[in-house]
Amino acid sequence: MKHVPLASVSRFLLATAIAALPALAGETSISVDLGKTGHQVSPLLWGVFFEDINLSADGGLYPELVRNRSFEGDDALQYWSIQSADGTDSGKCSIGDAKPLNAHNRSHLRVKSASDSVLENGGYWGMNLVAGDEYLFNVAIRGSDYKGALTVQLCDASGNALDSGKVSGIGAKWQVHSLTLKPSKSDPAGKLRILAPGGGEVSLDMISLMPAKTWKGHGLRTDLAESMNALKPAFFRFPGGCWVEGDDMAHAYRWKETIGDVATRTPRYNVWGYTATQGLGYHEYLQLAEDLGAEPLFCVNVGMSHTESEPMDRMGAWVQDALDAIEYANGPVDSVWGSLRAKHGHPEPFNLRYIEIGNENGGPDYAARWPLFEKAIKAKYPEITLIANDWEGSHPKNPMPEIVDEHYYETPEAFMRKSTLFDGYDRKGPKVFVGEYAATKRAGQGNLRAALGEAAFMTGLERNSDVVAMAAYAPLFTNVNHRAWNPDLINFDSSTCYGIPSYHVQQLFSLNTGDVTLPIEVRCEEIAQPEPSGMIGLGTWNTQAEFKDIRVTALDGRVLFRPDFSNGIGGWTFGGNGDWSVKDGVLRQSAAQPRVRAIIGDKSWKDYTVELKARKISGREGFTVLFHNQDIEGRTSWNIGGWDNRYSGLGLGDMGERKALSVETGRWYDVKLELAGNRVRCWLDGKIIHDFQRPALTTKTLYASATRDTNSGDVILKVVNTSASPTETALDLKGLAGATEAKATVLTSADPSDENSLKEPSKVAPKTESFAIAGGSFTRTFPGNSFSVIRLPGVKK
Ligand code: AHR
Repeated sequence: MKHVPLASVSRFLLATAIAALPALAGETSISVDLGKTGHQVSPLLWGVFFEDINLSADGGLYPELVRNRSFEGDDALQYWSIQSADGTDSGKCSIGDAKPLNAHNRSHLRVKSASDSVLENGGYWGMNLVAGDEYLFNVAIRGSDYKGALTVQLCDASGNALDSGKVSGIGAKWQVHSLTLKPSKSDPAGKLRILAPGGGEVSLDMISLMPAKTWKGHGLRTDLAESMNALKPAFFRFPGGCWVEGDDMAHAYRWKETIGDVATRTPRYNVWGYTATQGLGYHEYLQLAEDLGAEPLFCVNVGMSHTESEPMDRMGAWVQDALDAIEYANGPVDSVWGSLRAKHGHPEPFNLRYIEIGNENGGPDYAARWPLFEKAIKAKYPEITLIANDWEGSHPKNPMPEIVDEHYYETPEAFMRKSTLFDGYDRKGPKVFVGEYAATKRAGQGNLRAALGEAAFMTGLERNSDVVAMAAYAPLFTNVNHRAWNPDLINFDSSTCYGIPSYHVQQLFSLNTGDVTLPIEVRCEEIAQPEPSGMIGLGTWNTQAEFKDIRVTALDGRVLFRPDFSNGIGGWTFGGNGDWSVKDGVLRQSAAQPRVRAIIGDKSWKDYTVELKARKISGREGFTVLFHNQDIEGRTSWNIGGWDNRYSGLGLGDMGERKALSVETGRWYDVKLELAGNRVRCWLDGKIIHDFQRPALTTKTLYASATRDTNSGDVILKVVNTSASPTETALDLKGLAGATEAKATVLTSADPSDENSLKEPSKVAPKTESFAIAGGSFTRTFPGNSFSVIRLPGVKK
């Protein structure tokens, strides 16, 4: 299992910026001195991070409608249904590799049927067919004595043809045939059907169906690209994340395999559980950054994957890849790589200026590899800004990077507390790129509370944007049918999409940045966090495991839950792409997929013990017991044999601990947890592994920041009210004389656990109102659980 490194604490040297003071009895106030200015807000502060995770490229932004178009690797015949015309499996279709389409696309589909064959592909949980729109069908075909023609149909979900065309003239050599099809009716769950009459053999490859209309004509799904564009990102980090690293070096990202003819791009199995076509390749990422008007930020592999590092004497190729990537993006059209960029339709340079070396890598291997890149890139391209991962501390002699990337996945409350994290950072050290952050724990599938936690954190990023140069929420997208990571900013299915409440927070910050900070003082109350409660659960990560003899008992002795599975696995809620079954009273999880879990119980269960037996059957890790979770997305857990079966990890949302531990395959373990208030104890085979006492934690009612937009003179105040009740607040904007009309945009909802969904995409959405103020001192009541952006127009210094 992959986990983010913790930020280095040694950088907490200076204390500056916000003054947050306890409220005098009953008084909550915010004061801003309009006569004084702080520092420049980083112009690159709010950007986006795109990773091919959760089927966000294939099946999402890259609108190939056919799933498994090229029959490579593990996908083989997957996602295709192949039958003879009478409805029985013809059994005459197979994967062929003789005389491939090209050297990089070795496999194809052989249809050997003597009788008629019907091939069907339903895409990524349905193809979005829109009546009257054009769809471009392409296929590479090679026949062997094949006399007939293929019929290609766009069908609705029930199989009725909505348009069709014929592919004829099939010769003995590979040839690409194209059709333009126009469905007569719309169906978001459409499919593609190919009818191959018998009478010879035909080989098919690169079977593709794409909408003709794409965003800015550059091949991307319009609604998804527009939802990203509406965030007005200042930068665009790509292509990952863990995707860049790969589980091993053989699966690490190589940009050179992702350019040019899509038929020659190597599909790659990625850490998020699917094979990616790489149709969204390096060139398309650069083009997308340009179309978004965002600074491209390319993250290269540093020669390290999740499980391996490239030997030092083979690092030359990886460093050269980074240099060549820069030449591809920026080099003259007569350079080796620049000429390819021109050939691919973009003679002008893309102006790539930011390169990140590695993702979440650290330790001695990173320390040895970072300087190789630094030296080579700075020697040839001194103008490129380099971003490092875990740089500080582990290798003091290495050159200091301009920017260091830090990632945070926390509870909403931890984000609130982290609003002051950067106040004390050393202003002489590297700048910070908060390259990934999101409330992932106790956050549902992205609820209002999570968004408020992030908003509180973001007030701190903005206030400290002299040192925090850039920040991006992560991940950006998920196909709702393949949620490998949760939450995700933009959720979509085949035809629609919506932003979670955090999306609105991101957008409100981005559209209301301002360019200079204003000193702000907030007086408010502290809120004590309640003791944890919630359901239990079981989980695995790329591992098959079994569980039995499960018993949950309240500390007062009442048995809360004791399943014997005689009625199967009814009542459990499942998450991830697991495969659960019951046999002889034993619950088994058989899928080798990341973050598989099943939960059951009551949200109000508080002080209790969990006892069970668990054994690992096969795979990379051990097993996980969940507790105190409010829903299937909860992450409070004891991970026994996590991190490639190297550690026991207690994850309590805001905190936890890790100890060295591995589990044996095939051995039943006795697992016991005791949860009493803020104390958690865990035993394995009767031996205590964790005894953890959470401190009582607090958060504040209000978090706020203030900036000015110099061009318009607007003063922009951002205020997060984390309390459940409306908070009457005395505002004092020193230096504001006279009446003015202010504008407030407020994001709130009836309950902090409220979420948006495909059915209710705008349940939690901002609303804007105007209000008059008589002068700089006024009172405003911030609704409970709200984020407000207040703009005071044209207030000159
Ligand atoms: O954003 C999801 C993942 O979280 C990224 O791939 C990785 O960098 C981090 O661990």
